[in-house]
Amino acid sequence: MGEEFLGGILVVDLGGQYTHLISRRFRELGVYTSVVPYNSVEKHSLAKFEALVLSGSPLSVGELNEAELSKFSELILGSSKPVLGICFGHQLLARLLGGTIERRREFGRTGIRVIKRDPLFNGWDDFEYVWMSHNDCVTSLPDLGEVLALTENECIAAFKSLFKGSVIYGVQFHPEVKHTTKGLQLLENFLNIAGVARNWKLSDYVENITKEMMNEVDTDAKALIAVSGGIDSTVSALISKRVFRDKLVAVFVNHGLLREGEVEEVLSNLRSLGIEPLYINAEDRFLKLLEGVSDCEERRKIIGEEFAKIFKELIENDPEIKYFIQGTTYPDIIESGVVSGSRKIKTHHNVGGIPPWFKVRILEPLKYLYKDEVREVGRLLGVPETLLKRHPFPGPGLGVRVIGVFTKEKLEIVRKASKIVEDTLREYDLHDSVWQAFAVVGDDMWVGVKGDERNQGYILTIRIVESTDGMTADWARIPHEVLDVMSRRITSSLSKVTTVTYAITSKPPSTIEPC
Ligand code: XMP
Repeated sequence: MGEEFLGGILVVDLGGQYTHLISRRFRELGVYTSVVPYNSVEKHSLAKFEALVLSGSPLSVGELNEAELSKFSELILGSSKPVLGICFGHQLLARLLGGTIERRREFGRTGIRVIKRDPLFNGWDDFEYVWMSHNDCVTSLPDLGEVLALTENECIAAFKSLFKGSVIYGVQFHPEVKHTTKGLQLLENFLNIAGVARNWKLSDYVENITKEMMNEVDTDAKALIAVSGGIDSTVSALISKRVFRDKLVAVFVNHGLLREGEVEEVLSNLRSLGIEPLYINAEDRFLKLLEGVSDCEERRKIIGEEFAKIFKELIENDPEIKYFIQGTTYPDIIESGVVSGSRKIKTHHNVGGIPPWFKVRILEPLKYLYKDEVREVGRLLGVPETLLKRHPFPGPGLGVRVIGVFTKEKLEIVRKASKIVEDTLREYDLHDSVWQAFAVVGDDMWVGVKGDERNQGYILTIRIVESTDGMTADWARIPHEVLDVMSRRITSSLSKVTTVTYAITSKPPSTIEPC
């Protein structure tokens, strides 16, 4: 974003999966953050921030050579700014101060003991649970550092150093992850210690991004936007409409992988917000290409490419179109491995799916926002609560909820069973309290018995998760009686399903969608 946004915290991105979550949490606390890949951080730009935060990384500190270490030392320790290192950042700081790192893995919910009271742990008890995800740990520190907390495995869970008068903290755990119950409190404590101003507001974001787009584009040209009825594309369309007014062309493509009743619902929602979309029914075109394709990433590729072809055709037929707007958000970028150093998990088709022959400029009004921030911006722009409460739905739709060979039969099973899952949750007033709820089907069969007849049928899995941003998630503890209702409804209305299971794994180690 433009220079005017600078201030607050510089999050040095060392490639960790949670880097943007760190930034998101500080924003939740009213602080502007800028995420910059470590190899792009310049010494002079550090002056523009009040404090530095170092992220996690898939790297190991032991992999860094002397030249890299001395560069980090000059940049970070020489910055005279308050610093908080998280996970790899913690290990890196310890190493720069002369500490020892050993191979020792800790993963998931871990207890830590606070052994030295410090303002960083205000509001924390002496024993707390935190979220760990690391292979190495800091085992000793020189006199420059003071140990504040330890894990059960005697890893240094937190330390403090007053290096040349500026305060440096390292925490081995992830305070940005909700599973660290008092993580947000710790981040707030750091802000207080570092004296960081809290003046980041989402309403400013809308004004600033609108101004930025107005300055950058020719507002007499047309801009094309693909709308899906989801929050991201709807909010992108509303922001873009402020810039392009009636020159905004919103297109809603039905790829045949939508939920039951979704087409009518999306069209009516968009119309109520003053967006009249061009509706393209491309069901046959997509399903023909997907039939028989087993690999999910391959399906994502096919869907992405087919979308791109449709948009290419539209652009070629209207030379006034100079821009293409995408609802890309931070997690889309980080999880697709676009940010240097981060490792690819899944290809989200709206990132990196834009082919080079797309001769229009891409605009991404939401690329600095997280899902819950997008929702908040939507609220500010008048998006009705019913739409804001819709569960997130992946771009490739039900195409990523069929495991194994893709067939129309399995697609229909997933579509119908998902409706049952969602409707049942609504009936029990549980729908709005979960992040996503759907059905998944694979190729595995289970023998069933109907009347006196033995029959073979699919195993269908219900996946219901709680999350605040999709980066981490926990399986929802749905009452057994509700799961029982879902299971009975599914097996009685779908003759090809004999067995229903419930997915009880959090993210990580699993992901939300099955593939
Ligand atoms: P995973 O499955 O990676 O999902 O834990 C995290 C969140 O992202 C959504 N998701 C996608 N969204 N295209 C999208 O636009 C995709 O290919 C895709 N895959 C996953 C998922 O629904 C969840 O909310």
